[in-house]
Amino acid sequence: MSLLRSSTRGIPEPSRVPRHVAIIMDGNGRWAKNRRLPRVAGHRKGVETVREIIRACIERGVQYLTLFAFSSENWRRPPEEVSLLMQLFVVALEQEVAKLHENGIRFRLIGDVSRFDPRLQKLIADAEALTAGNNRLTLTIAANYGGRWDILQAANRMLAERPELMHGFGEEELAPYLCLSDAPEPDLFIRTGGEQRISNFLLWQLAYTELYFTDTLWPDFDAKAFDAAIASFQRRERRFGRTSEQLEENA
Ligand code: IPE
Ligand code: IPE
Ligand code: MG
Repeated sequence: MSLLRSSTRGIPEPSRVPRHVAIIMDGNGRWAKNRRLPRVAGHRKGVETVREIIRACIERGVQYLTLFAFSSENWRRPPEEVSLLMQLFVVALEQEVAKLHENGIRFRLIGDVSRFDPRLQKLIADAEALTAGNNRLTLTIAANYGGRWDILQAANRMLAERPELMHGFGEEELAPYLCLSDAPEPDLFIRTGGEQRISNFLLWQLAYTELYFTDTLWPDFDAKAFDAAIASFQRRERRFGRTSEQLEENA
């Protein structure tokens, strides 16, 4: 069993720089409202922040960056905002994928893409195929993603392939079917925008992740703010169920 995959069973190697950072990019709407701009202006500025944080991850040696871009609950927003977000997603993919590839970044998407426009689905599939061999940074965008959806799709796919597990299975059997199964679990979770909740993001994968909440709105979140989150992470003691004394003995 992979130690990386299942932190409630195995204990991952400690690392100073988080290998995997997962972020809920929140606060675009409020950023725009504070400036009397339409909400979409906040989403546009938010795309610039994404670029800056990708750069910061590469410079600091973070290997996996997972960004929550659109939740399965975000369809509840006014149709105009949903459609502007989809357009922005299309434009960002059209403009950025070649640059991601040049920079050795692997692009992945997690979530139920079946509800997206076929054009967007094709852009996603092409971007994943083009960048599949890159390994400098794996950038995963969660779109139409929900943590409960993830666990259910994993269980359903597992049982379809391995019906003998119908009467019982463990983490090891389920883990390969979960989204992000080939990445280490997130070391650091960041939520901008002041709310202190998970909003149905990576429910399974965040079991032992260090959580960091900041009031900074996503469009204002920059490399310096990112470094503050990493510094907070570095001050934490990751015990994974053990005592401080045990950690000292092993050091
Ligand atoms: C996050 O910003 C972006 C998405 C959910 C797509 P919000 O749009 O939620 O911004 P606030 O929370 O209204 O400020
Ligand atoms: C969470 O943000 C989802 C994304 C950032 C994509 P929301 O702004 O939709 O979260 P809630 O609904 O306020 O919790
Ligand atoms: Mg929000």
